[in-house]
Amino acid sequence: MTPLNEVIINKNTKVNPIWIMRQAGRYLPEFREIRKSNPDFIKLCLNKDLASEITLQPLKRFDLDAAIIFSDILMVPYGLGQTVEFKKNFGPLLGDLNLDEISKLNEVDFVNKVHPVYKALNLVANNPLTKNKSTIGFVGAPWTLLVYMLNKQSPKLDKKKSFFSDQFLAKKVLFAIEKFLKLHIKKQIENGAEIIQIFDSWAGLLEEKDLPNYVYIPTLNLVEYVKSLKIPVICFPRGIKNYKNFCETIKPDAICIDYDVNPIQIQKEINIPIQGGMDPKVLLTNKENLKKEAKKYLDIFKDHPYIFNLGHGVLPETDPNMMDYLVKIVKDY
Ligand code: CP3
Repeated sequence: MTPLNEVIINKNTKVNPIWIMRQAGRYLPEFREIRKSNPDFIKLCLNKDLASEITLQPLKRFDLDAAIIFSDILMVPYGLGQTVEFKKNFGPLLGDLNLDEISKLNEVDFVNKVHPVYKALNLVANNPLTKNKSTIGFVGAPWTLLVYMLNKQSPKLDKKKSFFSDQFLAKKVLFAIEKFLKLHIKKQIENGAEIIQIFDSWAGLLEEKDLPNYVYIPTLNLVEYVKSLKIPVICFPRGIKNYKNFCETIKPDAICIDYDVNPIQIQKEINIPIQGGMDPKVLLTNKENLKKEAKKYLDIFKDHPYIFNLGHGVLPETDPNMMDYLVKIVKDY
């Protein structure tokens, strides 16, 4: 069994596996090199050879326990026919949403549009570098995709409500994307994904009263679907504050926590396997501080099934040597 599954399935507290959200790309010079000659990000995600190569880049450098497929949560809106572009120093920019088109779209057309993602996964899962490591597939949670599909760019924290004024439209989008998210999950699993992580990066935008309709119900539906395929599912509802409630309602196989929550409280309140937590900014400081902070998480979770990871994606300005040091700290613990 892979170290991640030792933790998730066997609840083993003696192993300390590590992988890092957004480990493929951004901060790695070898990724930037490929990116320079591939200005179209979506096209790059749809190049099975380069996407698998980028996925494996961090595994060549560091002793990580999982590979996460180089793709993006916005490949789903792209597969649904909404245009998606990544502008330098701005982030994603989506085109107008055409719900009529989405409701007419059939599953074959969707798969045809994104199928290189599945091929890349297959290459990764069958590469010797992933032997005894987990290959992770992922989707954006329905709520986070809704935010991008309606707002057409990353939301500004000070304008929480303005992009989400038409509740009827929001419900219709959630309804329309559900079957394609399930399809995307199923195809990733068929092609070698051994764990699915659901990224709900904007869960923290919602007020407590809106969580059931926009986070709990749609996420529970996906989690139960992944479980029915006999694959572990990790949820990352970034910024929700009440992780205990989330875990009791959704019951994922593991929960990934962000860096705004108190890990001591999490350890006391939650009894499922836990992943993540450390602030990615710690990697921008110095080795001494990195060791102190990483050990803090390892100590708190030493008798709890725990997968080391950060509380959000690794930052682009991270020095790869700091990442190397972090992996060694966790492995030597
Ligand atoms: O984890 C990995 O290394 C696998 C690849 C991965 C990417 N995006 C590649 C990527 C994963 C898991 C994602 C998930 C993703 N994408 C999320 C959820 C996680 C999170 O960070 O909250 C979100 C919200 C997106 C949407 C998205 N994609 C944004 C906001 C941006 C621009 C800012 C950024 O993160 O760089 C992207 C682009 C993107 N996705 C890049 C990469 C490597 C950078 C592209 C570039 O080189 O310009």
